[in-house]
Amino acid sequence: MFENWDELTQQCRQCQKCPLCRTRHNVVVGVGNKNAKVMFIGEGPGENEDLQGEPFVGRGGKLLDKMLNAVDLDRNKNIYIANIVKCRPPKNRDPKPEEQDMCIDWLRNQVKLIKPKIIVCLGRIAAAKIIKSDIKITKEHGIFFEKNGTLMTAMLHPAAVLRDPRRKPEAFDDFLKLREKINEICPETYDI
Ligand code: URA
Repeated sequence: MFENWDELTQQCRQCQKCPLCRTRHNVVVGVGNKNAKVMFIGEGPGENEDLQGEPFVGRGGKLLDKMLNAVDLDRNKNIYIANIVKCRPPKNRDPKPEEQDMCIDWLRNQVKLIKPKIIVCLGRIAAAKIIKSDIKITKEHGIFFEKNGTLMTAMLHPAAVLRDPRRKPEAFDDFLKLREKINEICPETYDI
């Protein structure tokens, strides 16, 4: 556990704990406000993220930014975004359980430093790892769970919404629910 962000970031960028380090271009540590009360967690970098070193910068990321901005959230202002695995799985396959296990301590350290009040998991992989292993995202997205004093919710992954645009309204509905929860639990998010 690193108490200091610079040290955490530096060590994370040098990580060679799993084979994904051999094919990566960049370690995608995270982006946003390290004092945020709301943290978003995705599954892992894709091609664009690997090349640019920032989470959610491809087409899915653009959609995510739109939905965030619609409820006055901004990746560079009042939230923090990270992933379960920090290095791109080849061909965008799902990160393997052992890769997730080898990487998860970086995320745990990030969560300990940020101390978010609300954690939003984007997609099934992140939700299964963070909220509960048997989560059914199609049924349970938008529901808030409490775990060790932190509220957690799953949302549809932006890439899944791009694949099936009919799901946009239910995806957006979860952002509206999130805004309500933020106003209840950590309204200071909107003063940042
Ligand atoms: N998908 C994710 O889950 N995370 C990213 O950073 C990009 C795409």
